[in-house]
Parts: sequence; structure tokens; C-alpha cells
Amino acid sequence: MKIQLWREILDPYALAVDELVVKFNHIIEEYRNAGVYSPIEQVTGRVKTISSILEKAHKKNIPLDDIEKEIDDIAGIRIICQFVEDIYKVVDIIRQRSDMIIKCENDYIKDRKKSGYRSYHITVYYDVETLKGTRRLQVEIQIRTLAMNFWATIEHSLQYKYKQNMPEHIRERLTSAAEAILILDREMSVVRDEIMDAQNSFTVKANIVADILRNIQNLYKVANKQDVIKIQDEFLKIYHNGDREELEKLNRDIDLLAQRYRAQSLR
Ligand code: GTP
Ligand code: MG
Repeated sequence: MKIQLWREILDPYALAVDELVVKFNHIIEEYRNAGVYSPIEQVTGRVKTISSILEKAHKKNIPLDDIEKEIDDIAGIRIICQFVEDIYKVVDIIRQRSDMIIKCENDYIKDRKKSGYRSYHITVYYDVETLKGTRRLQVEIQIRTLAMNFWATIEHSLQYKYKQNMPEHIRERLTSAAEAILILDREMSVVRDEIMDAQNSFTVKANIVADILRNIQNLYKVANKQDVIKIQDEFLKIYHNGDREELEKLNRDIDLLAQRYRAQSLR
């Protein structure tokens, strides 16, 4: 096939990948703006290279005309989570969306592959708009934890290096590493609640601090300089030693002070 023809075939897939990466990143944003823990840690995407499409078509005996139907990972999205529990939250999010229609799901976490590979795979249909109209494409979404991703990345490079001839002792190492990763994910799940609490209170505190700083800045426009400096000193003291409640109280006090000044200026 001519390069130009490949470009025509692959361009819509690049659009699908770009759009989906933006959409999943916005989900992270939504959670963070709400001060809530995000089940998605990171999103990446890629379009399969022409050579690896050809290689897969050859290996699976797929005629060139059937490539788009038969190869479901021309467009690929990878979603990385911190904890196994998060993966199933992401699956629910995808199931509820109207812009991704699920074609099939494979839970390689419940049923891990012989290699030791674990991940949750969802193939979806996703529509993109092109100059020639709407195109419905298949996209493969892989959802895994940071630990699963670590293992899969290393294993993939070794597979690539050895092709079909991976030495037995390396295969064995990979199997026992997969076991260690499984235990790591389990250990992390046990401390998940505590880690999430810590991350949540960090985001909440950061939001209050941003609010206080904005309020102090506004206070500068209306208030007596002495008053603002006092507030600022108090803020710095609480910021370094204090907890969330103290910060919230300070923020309320600043609010009251601002109201007093506003009332004065109306008199
Ligand atoms: P494909 O022909 O690759 O689509 O195989 P499949 O359809 O039988 O498997 P599946 O769709 O479940 O997995 C496809 C993708 O998952 C691969 O392209 C890899 O990215 C990943 N994957 C599956 N198995 C393994 C594995 O044993 N090791 C690693 N590193 N990745 C894997
Ligand atoms: Mg597949």
C-alpha cells in the first residue's frame, strides 16, 4: 500500500487518540478541582506504527482489506491507576459514557495471562468527525496500576529483545516478578484508605490556602495596612504549624474583616 493511503487510514485514529487523551485528562481535572481523589493517575495514547500493523496482520493472517475490522488496537489508550480498586472505578466511568460504546471487555486481573500479564482491557467504538463524515473506529483501552505497568513495560522489552526465544531463566524471573507485583498491589490496597486520606487532605488544604491568599490580596485594596499585616503574620504561623480547621477559621475571620470594611465604605 502507498504511504499516502496509510496516512488516510491512520489519520482518523490519531484524532481519536488525541480526543480521548484530552477527555480522560479532563476527568482527572474534574476530580482535582472538586478536591477529590482521582481514580486515574495518568493517561497516554498512541497509534500503532505501520510496521507493527503489518507484522500483526501477517502473524494473524489478516488480509490488508480487513485490517481496520480485525485489528482492534490501531488506536490505543493506556490509563494508569494507583490502586486495583481504581481500575474498576474507571471501567464504570467508561461504561456510563455515551461517547464510547463498549465492544468487549477482558479482565486479565481476575484471569491473569499465562505470561503473568495483568490489566483490564476494553475495546470501544468511538466516533470521530472527518471531512468525509463521521467515522466509527475501534479503540483499545488498557487500564492498569502503576505496578502492573512497570511489569508489563519490562516484560514487553524483553519479549522484543528475545522474540520467541526468551531464555527459561529469564522467563522464570519474570513469573516471580509478576507474583511480587501482585503482592505489592495487594499491600497497597490495604493502605489505600490511608493514602487517599492523606492525598485528599493535601488537596483540600491547598484549596483553602489558595482561597486565603486571594482574600488577603483583596483585603489589601480596602483594609488598613496594619490589619492586613497582622492577618498575614497569622496566616504564616498557621500555615507552618496549624491544621486544616485553623486555616478554615482564619479564612472565615478574613471574610468577616472584609465584610466590616465593605460595610464601612458604604456608610
Ligand atoms: P493481540 O493480538 O495483541 O491483540 O492479542 P490478543 O487480542 O489475544 O490480546 P489482548 O487484546 O488481550 O492484548 C493485546 C495487548 O495487551 C497487547 O498489544 C499488549 O499491549 C498487551 N499484552 C497482552 N498480553 C501481554 C503480555 O503477556 N505481556 C505484555 N507486556 N503485554 C501484553
Ligand atoms: Mg487484541
